[in-house]
Amino acid sequence: MKSEIHKAVITAGGLGTRFLPATKAIPKEMLILVDKPVIQFVVEEAAAVGIEDIVIVTSKLKHAIEDHFDSNTEIEMALQAANNEILLEKLETVPEGVDIHFVRQRKPRGLGDAVLTAKRHIESDPFLVLLGDTVSASSIFEDDNSYNCSKPLVDWYNKRGKQIVAVERVPIEMSIRYGMIKGKKVRYSEGEVYKLEDMIEKPKPSESPSDLALWGRYLFEPSIFDYLENTEPGYNNEIQLTDAMRMSVYDGNEMYAYVLKNKRYDIGDKLSYLKAFVDFGLHNPETKKGFRAYLKSLKL
Ligand code: G1P
Repeated sequence: MKSEIHKAVITAGGLGTRFLPATKAIPKEMLILVDKPVIQFVVEEAAAVGIEDIVIVTSKLKHAIEDHFDSNTEIEMALQAANNEILLEKLETVPEGVDIHFVRQRKPRGLGDAVLTAKRHIESDPFLVLLGDTVSASSIFEDDNSYNCSKPLVDWYNKRGKQIVAVERVPIEMSIRYGMIKGKKVRYSEGEVYKLEDMIEKPKPSESPSDLALWGRYLFEPSIFDYLENTEPGYNNEIQLTDAMRMSVYDGNEMYAYVLKNKRYDIGDKLSYLKAFVDFGLHNPETKKGFRAYLKSLKL
């Protein structure tokens, strides 16, 4: 079946303060997992579900992201002279058939504001939103799209034509780090889905409506922009995407949540990044053997 979703917004505007000093000059989205920056896995995830047009929302000091998806003629010429086809292929960071555009969020006003920055580009199409600092184990198994965490959202939309976001179960004491949702379970043979009734950004555990946390993948209709435009600053004095979603749902727009079971890595968080590095290292064809042997030798 031909997908109806061709556009995606990848947000990469956040400051990455939890990772200072590493992120003083290098965007957290450019931190490396073995041999690729995190954001490249996110771009590849989008491309694998049929996205042809990607808008990356950057901010000040994020030039490295633009450079990464640009060509580098100096390296290219050197590799051509050396006839190094393998590395020349690796230099192709933009997947075939995909266009990448950049828009800049001028002030750090939050995730909702970052998504709103892409409005003109999205126009009247349904679109995916992917957080540029969040990847899952799916990205490791690049040949097997069944692990792709954007796929269930796109499949759902193509079948039902309704907005849907990804969530995962988290220990309730972690609610202060996420947008938490409330919903009613619906029948869907392909997975666990809830019809959204409410959501709240980073509530205290005692105020969290469930243990289901927004994961960092969303599929919206362009009507979300109308709500974003009218969203007042919320948690942390920022324009929260969660608040715009809530207004949309309160207004009667249908939105659903799909429970992902994939491992999730938040690259802005040190421990999560280290776990990702280990898991990706154990799956990378070039490193997996030697890395496994090394880890075993540690006898932890
Ligand atoms: C953002 C969203 C939050 C979501 C989280 C997932 O928060 O605002 O709703 O649960 O991403 O990582 P942030 O991590 O930017 O603070």
